[in-house]
Amino acid sequence: MKKLIALLLSLAMVLSLAACGSSSSTAETKTEEPAAAEASTPTEAVEAVGDASAAPSTDGALDLTGKKIGLAMPTQSSERWINDGNNMKTQLEALGAEVVLQYGDDDIQQQVSQIEGMIAQQVDCLVIAAIDSGSLTTVEQAAADAGIPIIAYDRLLMDTENVTYYATFDNKGVGVAIAKYVEEKLDLANAKADGKTYTCELFMGSPDDNNALFLYNGIMEVLGGYFEDGTLDVKSGRTSFQDTCILRWSQETAQQWCENYLASSYADAHLDICLCAFDGFAYGCKAALTSAGYTAENWPLITGQDCELMATKNIIDGTQTMSIYKDTRLLAEKCVSMVGAVVLGTEPEINDTEQYNNNVKVVPTYMCTPVAVDKDNYQEYLIDSGYYTEADLNAAS
Ligand code: BGC
Repeated sequence: MKKLIALLLSLAMVLSLAACGSSSSTAETKTEEPAAAEASTPTEAVEAVGDASAAPSTDGALDLTGKKIGLAMPTQSSERWINDGNNMKTQLEALGAEVVLQYGDDDIQQQVSQIEGMIAQQVDCLVIAAIDSGSLTTVEQAAADAGIPIIAYDRLLMDTENVTYYATFDNKGVGVAIAKYVEEKLDLANAKADGKTYTCELFMGSPDDNNALFLYNGIMEVLGGYFEDGTLDVKSGRTSFQDTCILRWSQETAQQWCENYLASSYADAHLDICLCAFDGFAYGCKAALTSAGYTAENWPLITGQDCELMATKNIIDGTQTMSIYKDTRLLAEKCVSMVGAVVLGTEPEINDTEQYNNNVKVVPTYMCTPVAVDKDNYQEYLIDSGYYTEADLNAAS
C-alpha cells in the first residue's frame, strides 16, 4: 500500500512539473515583444527576445474564460488609442475573456454612457482611459456599487477611491526624455558660453489629463533654467502650463496657435523649436510652418510623443525631429496582469506606490519606460522590435 502511495505521489510530481514547464513557456512567448521594448538599449532589447531564461510573466498563466472585461478608450482620432484598444482586446481574448471595447470619440458624456452600458452588461472589470480624468466619479461609484473593479489605463482616474490599479508610462519621464533630447541636440549646456540662443514655443497636453502636467514638469525640470536665463527665448511669452496646455490634445488648436505665433511673434524672427507634447501637435506645427514658408533649409526642431506611424514617417523625411516610443503592447500586458489580479486574485505587477495620487488615494501603479526616438535609432526601436514593419512605413499614408 505504502509503495502504491509513493508511486502515485511521484507520478503527481512529474505531472505537475510538466504542467509548470508548459505554462512558463507560454508565459515566455507572451513576454517576448514587450521585453524588447522595456530594455534600455536596442541591443539589450534584441537579446531579451532570445533569452529563454527570461522570467515568466504572471499573466501568462491567467485563465479568463467566462469573464467579461469592459474597455473604455477615449478616442479614435489618434492612432495610439486604436493600437491600445486592439492590443488589450487581443491579449484578453487570448486568455479566454470576452471583451467589450468602446471609444468615447472625445465626448465625455458618450464615454459615461458607454461605461454605464458596460456596468449594465455586468462586466467583471472595467479598464478606463478617460477623456476627462475627473469627470467619471459618478459612473465610477456606480461601478463600485455593482461590485465592478476599475483599472486606470494610461491616464490616472482622478478624485475617486474607486480605482484599484493604474497601468501607465513614466509620464514625468516622457517630459524629461523630450527635454534631454533638445538639450543634447542643441548643446544647450554650452550655448550661453557660445553666445547662442534659440527661440522656442510650447505646445503642452490637455489640462484635464493628469499626464499632461507630469510631462510639463519633466520638461521644466531639465529646461526650466534655460528659459530663465534666456538661452531658450519664448517670444510669445507663454511658458506656464496654464498658458500652453491644449484642451483635448487638439491638433487643430496646436496648428492654430502655431499659425498665430508665426504671424505675430515670429513675423521678423525665426522659430527654432516647437516643443510639442504629442505627435498630433507636431503635425499641426508642420502644417503651420509649411504655409508660413519654412523649408528643409530652415526647418525647426520639432518634438512629439507616441511614435505614431505618421510621426515616424515624418521623422524619416525630416519634418519631425523626434518622438517618444511608448510600446502599447507592453502597457497592455501590464494592464492584463492587473485585470487578472482584480478578477482572479493573482498578484499584479506594480513598480510605483508613491507618485500617482489622484486626490483621494495613491494608486498602485506599473510605469513602463518611455524611449526617445529619432532618425538615428528608429530602426532599432520601432522596426527591430516588431512595432512597425518596413511595409507599414513604406505604405502611402
Ligand atoms: C497619453 C499620450 C498621448 C496623449 C494624447 C496622453 O494621455 O499619455 O501618450 O499622446 O494622451 O492622446
